Amino acid sequence: MEVHNVELTISAVQAAQYPKGQQPEIAFVGRSNVGKSTLTNVLINRRNYAHTSSQPGKTQTLNFYHVEDQLYFVDVPGYGFAKVSKKERERFGQMIEAYLTQRQQLRGVIQLVDARHKPTDDDVTMYNYLKYYQLPTLVVGTKSDKLKPSQLAKSKKLIQQTLGLTKKAPLVMFAAPSKKGKDAVWQWIEKLC
Ligand code: GTP
Ligand code: MG
Repeated sequence: MEVHNVELTISAVQAAQYPKGQQPEIAFVGRSNVGKSTLTNVLINRRNYAHTSSQPGKTQTLNFYHVEDQLYFVDVPGYGFAKVSKKERERFGQMIEAYLTQRQQLRGVIQLVDARHKPTDDDVTMYNYLKYYQLPTLVVGTKSDKLKPSQLAKSKKLIQQTLGLTKKAPLVMFAAPSKKGKDAVWQWIEKLC
């Protein structure tokens, strides 16, 4: 999809604030700093519409971006961020869980993992969770531009093995500077929406 029109509809902290209507939603989940906002910006052709930061844990609400008046991208607070209090973490956790398990408009989830490292225990927990709830999931390995070409296949394999992906499970390696992987991610989204 070529995107010309995007609007941040709401930064929600509770379900009552989620957009009304039946348009499909795609959620973006992953550790803080993994590149959720960056991927969102590349998909919508904007430089910094979804705010990126060097300050992890900055996104603390469910941000609903209305894309081409057709669907919503939902930027979910990053998990595994140690600096927020335990209480805060629990609050986010409950909000994310309620959204992922109860939101009828949710069509699929894009889970981002850092392609430079082995997926963390939190990544594995999240993937198993999405699988348990049978949410269609696309795994995206971010920051793949930081890998040497010779490391790419290895990284892919490590992600597959650590998360327990089947051979058929969709996995896209993404690089923001070159936008590598953008079309593949869009194809997956369009198939679901
Ligand atoms: P939170 O909102 O804190 O959960 O973080 P986030 O997941 O939205 O991460 P964000 O998009 O803000 O990116 C974090 C940092 O990683 C920024 O400095 C980005 O520029 C950088 N980054 C994200 N994706 C890529 C990528 O594909 N390649 C490179 N080289 N850097 C990236
Ligand atoms: Mg963000």
